[in-house]
Amino acid sequence: MPEMKNQLKTAKIAGIGMYVPSNVFTNEDLKQYMDTSDEWIQERTGIKERRYADRTKETTTTMGVEAAKIAIERAGITAADIDFVVFATLSPDYYFPGCGVLVQRALKMKEVGALDIRNQCSGFVYALSVADQFIRTGMYKNILVIGAEKHSFGIDFSTRGRNISVIFGDGAGAVVLQPSSNPQQGILSTHLHSDGNSAEILAMYNPGTHANHWVENKVADYDDAAMGEMFMSHQMIDHAQNFPTMDGPAVFKKAIVKFPEVIQEALAANQLSIADLNLLIPHQANLRIAQFVQQKLKLRDDQVYNNIQKYGNTTAASVPIALCEAWQEGKIKEGDLLCLAAFGSGFTWASALIKW
Ligand code: UT7
Repeated sequence: MPEMKNQLKTAKIAGIGMYVPSNVFTNEDLKQYMDTSDEWIQERTGIKERRYADRTKETTTTMGVEAAKIAIERAGITAADIDFVVFATLSPDYYFPGCGVLVQRALKMKEVGALDIRNQCSGFVYALSVADQFIRTGMYKNILVIGAEKHSFGIDFSTRGRNISVIFGDGAGAVVLQPSSNPQQGILSTHLHSDGNSAEILAMYNPGTHANHWVENKVADYDDAAMGEMFMSHQMIDHAQNFPTMDGPAVFKKAIVKFPEVIQEALAANQLSIADLNLLIPHQANLRIAQFVQQKLKLRDDQVYNNIQKYGNTTAASVPIALCEAWQEGKIKEGDLLCLAAFGSGFTWASALIKW
């Protein structure tokens, strides 16, 4: 029997697509809900505007499906050719089942496997890494990888939640991964990390089964709660405990350390250096974070792609949206070396080095 090593195939991105809702929400628009200003948002985050999904007609899945259709078409295949789906999101249509099966249904695919990834901002890079392993081992030939979010449905639009609500936006990105005939082309390596010690620093506790086990002084006292009330109660909603919470400065401090680290790790693993990198596509968390990373790694402006100004932080969708837009703008050419890198809630962080 031939050795497994000989069977390994590199995975390449054969098609890429993105979808953002048409509804543009500017920083000025946010002022009708909360005490904030265009100046504060731009200075601290770089964001000018973001897109919000139609409240009733669009979901995380429908946006993912729109991005997927474009990626599938650009790959020159049809939905019937897809043999596995990986869907990354923190804002799924349902608590369960996940969005993967909803995509399988919406695109009338065969009864293929569908996997949901819950790794927030680094979700897409994690999803890509999972798909990469399946291609490398020869298990699948056309994997649809989607990152999508509908944040606008679940954030606190009052002044209380302004440190979070001004940042996030809705959208979706998708790629089709296929085996590459050229072993020098495609995903060279992926690098995944986590540190759960700070899990509650950026989190949405409810609904959940924690019963305050991990969360101190954050949610209602459960001792007197009736059966069935612990998962989601009126008290939680009355105290706005159904929204995400974040210690922004703590996340910022960790992000500016872990982003450069995981980028350098990817380059070192392939005996490459910063000078070899054509384009870094960082998760669009905050323009100040991306600029800090750029400075620390001494990258030129043309080596870093940012579009947070237009879309805000779209979490699992941000890396594929940025990758797609960079490609559509002609900033990615065959043979270019790209690094995708992300950091977020968990904490989790990840990178992928790709020869386009
Ligand atoms: O993608 C997932 C990972 N997430 C991130 O990477 C986020 C990382 N963190 C950040 O991007 C930044 O920490 C934020 C943009 C969230 C916040 O910026 P900051 O410079 O760290 O501000 P801060 O949280 O330290 O708040 C400074 C002040 C506070 O007021 P006081 O206490 O100084 O009076 C906040 O209440 O700014 C206030 N503030 C706002 N003011 C106007 C917070 N949010 C807003 C707002 N508009 N939207």
